[in-house]
Amino acid sequence: MKCFNLIHVFITLFILGVVRATTVYNPIIWADVPDPDIIRVDDTYYMVSTTMFFNPGAPIMKSKDLVSWKICNYVYDKLADGDVQNLARGQHDYSHGQWATSLRYHKGTFYVFFGSYGTNKSYIFKTKDIENGPWTRTELGGMYHDASMIFDDDGRNYLVYGAGGEIRIKEFNSEMTDFKRGGADKILFRTNLSGLAGEGSHVQKINNYYYIFIIAWPNGKGRIEICYRSKDILGNYESRTVLDSGVGSYGSGVAQGGIVDTPEGKWYGLLFQDHGSVGRIPVLVPVNWQSDWPMMGVNGRAPVTFQIDGDFKTTKLAKSDDFNYSSNDELDLVWQWNHNPDNSAWSVTEREGWLRLKNKYVVSELLRARNTLTMRTEGPACTSIVKMDTSKMKVGDYAGLSAFQFKYGNVGVYVADNGEKRVYMATNGGNEINNSRNYIEQETRMSGNEIYLKLEFRFNNVGNDGSASNNIDRVNFYYSYDGDKWTKIGKELGMTYDLTLFTGYRSALYSYPTKSTGGYVDFDYIKYTREKWNQGTLPDDADDDIKPQPIEPDENGYYFHNTFEEDEDTWTGRHTASIQVSQKAAYAGKSSLYCYKREYNWTGAQRTLSPKMFKPGETYSFSVVVRYDEGPASQNFYLTLQYENGTDEVQYDKISIESVKKGEWTQLANANYKIPANAYDMYFYVETEEGEDSFYVDEAIGAVAGTAIPGPGSSGELNYKSFF
Ligand SMILES: *[C@@H]1O[C@H](CO)[C@@H](O)[C@H](O)[C@H]1NC(C)=O
Ligand SMILES: *[C@@H]1O[C@H](CO)[C@@H](O)[C@H](O)[C@H]1NC(C)=O
Ligand SMILES: *[C@@H]1O[C@H](CO)[C@@H](O)[C@H](O)[C@H]1NC(C)=O
Ligand SMILES: *[C@@H]1O[C@H](CO)[C@@H](O)[C@H](O)[C@H]1NC(C)=O
Ligand SMILES: *[C@@H]1O[C@H](CO)[C@@H](O)[C@H](O)[C@H]1NC(C)=O
Ligand SMILES: *[C@@H]1O[C@H](CO)[C@@H](O)[C@H](O)[C@H]1NC(C)=O
Repeated sequence: MKCFNLIHVFITLFILGVVRATTVYNPIIWADVPDPDIIRVDDTYYMVSTTMFFNPGAPIMKSKDLVSWKICNYVYDKLADGDVQNLARGQHDYSHGQWATSLRYHKGTFYVFFGSYGTNKSYIFKTKDIENGPWTRTELGGMYHDASMIFDDDGRNYLVYGAGGEIRIKEFNSEMTDFKRGGADKILFRTNLSGLAGEGSHVQKINNYYYIFIIAWPNGKGRIEICYRSKDILGNYESRTVLDSGVGSYGSGVAQGGIVDTPEGKWYGLLFQDHGSVGRIPVLVPVNWQSDWPMMGVNGRAPVTFQIDGDFKTTKLAKSDDFNYSSNDELDLVWQWNHNPDNSAWSVTEREGWLRLKNKYVVSELLRARNTLTMRTEGPACTSIVKMDTSKMKVGDYAGLSAFQFKYGNVGVYVADNGEKRVYMATNGGNEINNSRNYIEQETRMSGNEIYLKLEFRFNNVGNDGSASNNIDRVNFYYSYDGDKWTKIGKELGMTYDLTLFTGYRSALYSYPTKSTGGYVDFDYIKYTREKWNQGTLPDDADDDIKPQPIEPDENGYYFHNTFEEDEDTWTGRHTASIQVSQKAAYAGKSSLYCYKREYNWTGAQRTLSPKMFKPGETYSFSVVVRYDEGPASQNFYLTLQYENGTDEVQYDKISIESVKKGEWTQLANANYKIPANAYDMYFYVETEEGEDSFYVDEAIGAVAGTAIPGPGSSGELNYKSFF
């Protein structure tokens, strides 16, 4: 199509007002964002949700399209400063803190209201600038459960709240500084339902009706969204179930939330669904009005996919961070501390480009520790990696990376009484907060001071229709000394959404002392990746993934050169095979790598190929030399690449094949090997066509394409080209 025609089509579409429709998947956000309360101000949507005991608290998220959301602010840094909020003297605020919150905009001011079981108080926060603050706050005595504010046209303001199926109303004064003396204060209705009889109110006035949306979970049913309506705010409510649906094959009912209209006049409900250990995740449902009832979903179902007008980006509520900050105040908004942090016990500036967590409070285990820094996990699966410097840890200090909930799993380092550093994986050995204990599932001696730690979460799989499988909810734990070669440690942890904390699992960076204060650890970065979900049609402008620092080849053009003179140079035995440095044979220098205890032809010796050096689709030169001393007079050796490329199968490709004569060093080389497109998780290994004879490997080299790597040469009988 000619350029002119293209412009013409765009102009025509523009004039006709035709807007591109984009397919959206539910959940719109696959992360713990419970109790969303949404409003629109001009062309911008804002919502508030619940993060309980994490600080700063009451996150405000912002969107232009209803689908892609960004945290733009928090309502408070500290809700209170007592032992409960500071994890002091055996107290805690788990499962309490900030509860379901109401957000409203009225005559140029944003209002936030919520109650806290931890303080037995409720709070009204106000600001003119929701994205930057400042917020002023008013405290009210007592906890108002799941409350919702409404500013009526006649200048009167109310709070609708309650639980157990009894929904009440109470009138505010006109300044919104307290309840009004002698104002309305009554029960609006009782649902008379069994089970979870009704709570989670969202009140809105639309045209001539007051609508109150609530959640209920009657015995024998799923969670449902019920709408009550009346033309008189104070009475005579009638009701209808407006949604009774899971999402696709995931049955848990979608409920609790309000509705919002687009500038073009379309209506949507924003509710949430309980989704196992990842937490409670937001679901967007189209609303169609039937006789002034806001019926939700498509044909009564919360759709797995549907179309919205316009484009959107993807939502990121967790991200990589290289801790390059010039001030502690700049910490990215995805981070929240477990309870109130002690701001004198952490820093991103004392060591440039690192997060320092300092041990100021001696505690017994993680749930008691202050200054644990957390971010959400995301479904269907995600991975967090940190690099940690342990050189300033003291005896009795524990530090690392946690899959954080009541039933936590921690991978980290502790310092034993004899001063030895131990890598460990631990779970919670208790069944209450007050008997929680660090139960070490596996440990091993640590070498050096720097270590990489990794969590691999899998919450669900996604079917072809986009719907989530039943919960998988598993996390695995790994450590590494180079960030490339990982060792699994401890056990796979089955994760549960435990009401003891009442939040989804998080990735958490921690450091705490059990014996004496004064130690600390530094984290260089967290690298976060997730399985793609609800990918936007617009490019993601948040450039927050850490680019791996590319490793440059040396003056010979070598990216790596393993000589096996001192150690195994990151090589490992495949499956049953063992390896060790041996001086019984050497092609160059004094030793080589001996591979033995092989049980199959494919159990040989391997190393990883780092994506920092080797890029998919690009060409490189590879070489190893091999020899064997026992077995047949000659046999075929293979230099093989194992990799994944996004399909279900692990892939294998031959880099070089040679016939090797017994007792003769032979080179397996390919000066122009192209790494397959999309390859990742690459292993580079030596195997044999048959048998399980032990062999030696020496001078393993990866270099820039075309590099002629010196070696004994091949037997000349077989080579890569004649084979393929
Ligand atoms: C919470 O506060 C309310 C109102 O001030 C009071 O009546 C109630 O007794 C308090 N509850 C607790 C558990 O302290
Ligand atoms: C609930 O029961 C009360 C008292 O029995 C009754 O007055 C009220 O109408 C009932 N509410 C509903 C929604 O059925
Ligand atoms: C972060 O800081 C390191 C040095 O500490 C620097 O090399 C790197 O370029 C910085 N990264 C960014 C994104 O600024
Ligand atoms: C631990 O907490 C439980 C429940 O909160 C309580 O019943 C129990 O008495 C507590 N135990 C101790 C030793 O404090
Ligand atoms: C993965 O590799 C296989 C085998 O070479 C190939 O058929 C497939 O197309 C590859 N898939 C991707 C996504 O590159
Ligand atoms: C190893 O042996 C199996 C079974 O005999 C065979 O299928 C496979 O091709 C062999 N591997 C190599 C690298 O030749």
